[in-house]
Amino acid sequence: LSLVKPSDEERKDVSDRVEKFLKKLKKGKGVKFELGGSGAKGTWTKGIKDVDVYAKFSLSMYKDKSDEISDVLEKLLMKGVKRLHGSRDYYQVKKDGFLFEIIPIMDIKKADEALNITDISPLHTKYVGKHKKLQDDIILAKAFFKSNGIYGAESYIKGMSGYVIEVLVIYYGGFVELVRAGAKWGEKVVIDPAKYHKNVLLEVNKSKLDSPLVLIDPVERGRNAAAAVGEERFREFVSVCKKFVKKPSSDYFIPEIFSMDMIKGDVVLEIVPK
Ligand code: CTP
Ligand code: MG
Repeated sequence: LSLVKPSDEERKDVSDRVEKFLKKLKKGKGVKFELGGSGAKGTWTKGIKDVDVYAKFSLSMYKDKSDEISDVLEKLLMKGVKRLHGSRDYYQVKKDGFLFEIIPIMDIKKADEALNITDISPLHTKYVGKHKKLQDDIILAKAFFKSNGIYGAESYIKGMSGYVIEVLVIYYGGFVELVRAGAKWGEKVVIDPAKYHKNVLLEVNKSKLDSPLVLIDPVERGRNAAAAVGEERFREFVSVCKKFVKKPSSDYFIPEIFSMDMIKGDVVLEIVPK
């Protein structure tokens, strides 16, 4: 943990910078800004430089204009932000050594109100927040899978997203428990933590069940949170769990400090795959 968990000073420093950033954002009618992602869940690993900020749009005001919220948000943001294409366009801005991502979403209370996949993210934060006791275990797990190249749902990685790791740690009840279970995984693993279905494979839309790991999102019954996981990362996941169970070592958590940013001259201590 001392290798990978942010110190109290780092936590304080990050929350000060985030607060400063949030204060700078212009208020808009029916819009509120809020810290999201691992920053809000307290599950970020040491040295992280990405901060997720959600611009939450009132459902009653924007329900019929949800395809315009990216444009509305743009007008509220400072100069120098970069617009990126996504399921809804979102924004990036570098400030104070951090890369802030500002994502427009609809402010929903229940998953079935979501108009876009990103809308449910605050519900994830809430779910993970109910398991504060497992925060350290989640940090260990994220660092473990990061430094072994299995972390990230991006299409060029096809690994496990932070949220998938979080749900797995919660489901198995800890980091060690997850790794022990992972070492015994077969070719296809189906997990439905909230027990929404009697038979996931029969009840969930077939198109969502292709991945070797099917993990039903505990906040959204129809979603496979692990849909992005590919065969290769899945096999590596099982293999690294097996190796670790056989011979545990802190080497498995050692962050690789030479990241691309460092090569470009921006010295960062970020955990990147070995
Ligand atoms: N999310 C998701 N599925 C993905 C990617 C993202 O559900 N494949 C949602 C999750 O709610 C997640 C949020 O989007 O908390 C932010 O995504 P990301 O920054 O990738 O995850 P974090 O949990 O913030 O983890 P990290 O510390 O790596 O930033
Ligand atoms: Mg994040």
